[in-house]
Amino acid sequence: MIGVLVSGEGSNLQALIDEGLPIAAVASNRSDAPALVRAGAAGIPSAVFPLDQHASREERDEAMADWLAGLGVQWVVLAGYMHLLRPSFLERFPERVINVHPALLPQFPGTHAIEDALAAGVRETGATVHYVDEGVDSGSVIAQERVAVQEDDTVDTLRTRIQVVEHRLLPKVVRELCAR
Ligand code: GAR
Repeated sequence: MIGVLVSGEGSNLQALIDEGLPIAAVASNRSDAPALVRAGAAGIPSAVFPLDQHASREERDEAMADWLAGLGVQWVVLAGYMHLLRPSFLERFPERVINVHPALLPQFPGTHAIEDALAAGVRETGATVHYVDEGVDSGSVIAQERVAVQEDDTVDTLRTRIQVVEHRLLPKVVRELCAR
């Protein structure tokens, strides 16, 4: 079973739902994440773990890991989850936490990958699915796909084309990993 962590829109969560993958739980650090509405519409249990309701980041991550494990989660997918995870969380799901990122890592890690790619003037960028470690978008790469940058691209137009790729790549990788 899969647990999905979200902080925002949840378009990647929706792609996983639409693929029919076995999602047992959706967790967020933000109570206002639209992704939670998508989880509810799909009948998937969800919970919010805001930092300000926990004594520390470790304690929050451990509570989140407990909740996920209690629902039978074995694989954790970060789909637009914008916090780092503490080692105590990662150790609960060893080699079983993955993330999707809108760039060809190791290029442009962090929360502004698309803005950074445009500012750097690169001719191509893309999407990456990778294992999660304690760093910022720094774990080993599982799959990547390239996206050409067009001369008139804005952040919005480039993001739209990268997300088309993400919505295909992430469910494909998750399906393959879960079948192992
Ligand atoms: C996705 O494009 C994902 O690659 C990115 O956040 C977006 C979330 O969209 N993640 C990162 O930048 C991680 N560093 P979504 O909420 O619609 O799936």
